[in-house]
Amino acid sequence: MKLFIDTADIAEIERIAGWGVLAGVTTNPSLLAAVEGSEDDIYKRICELVDGPISAEVTADTAKAMVKEGRRLAGIHPNIVVKLPTCAPGLTATAELAQDGIPVNMTLCFTASQALLAASAGARYVSPFVGRYDDIGNDGIEALREVVDALFATEYDVQVITASVRSPVHVQEAAKMGADIATIPPKVFDQMLAHPLTDKGLEKFNADAAARAAKTKGTRKK
Ligand code: E4P
Repeated sequence: MKLFIDTADIAEIERIAGWGVLAGVTTNPSLLAAVEGSEDDIYKRICELVDGPISAEVTADTAKAMVKEGRRLAGIHPNIVVKLPTCAPGLTATAELAQDGIPVNMTLCFTASQALLAASAGARYVSPFVGRYDDIGNDGIEALREVVDALFATEYDVQVITASVRSPVHVQEAAKMGADIATIPPKVFDQMLAHPLTDKGLEKFNADAAARAAKTKGTRKK
């Protein structure tokens, strides 16, 4: 499973990209609203930092306007993936952009039925939202499994992006069921890496290495 980062925060993208683990980036209007700078400059900088699919979401609400905005976003960089909501105008716009060869990520997907419609319209990626489904008392991981199973059984050339990830457990479960991608907030990357036994073990190795170095220094001939 590939790991994407879900943020528009350039410093955070740069930090996690430095780990060598990122295969792509997703953004959305809320994530963009949380950072300073022009949208286009942010997308360009992200494309410089990560060599992979970079989702840029449209804000238009009619199919015609979505297509226009999607074409403009796709023109910013060859790695831009146009992100469109899973609704009727979004499907119409997906079909049109797909015909132009522009990759689309259909977002705000919650069910296998929605995912099948997105795939059928020609979406290259579909993003089931796990955390937001959990938030309303459903099982987001089970809903993701239904999407993965349904698409696996079809002929569509579509990849599942596990979205609205809230914990390392979401990422692990997505990987185990064979989801193609998980898009992960920076905070969850930190949670995935941290382990008290790793910290404790490293502290002991460093202390033992320092003790050995001090002993060796003390016995060295002048
Ligand atoms: C996906 O592409 C979205 O940007 C994102 O995962 C939404 O997550 P949230 O529910 O934490 O806002």
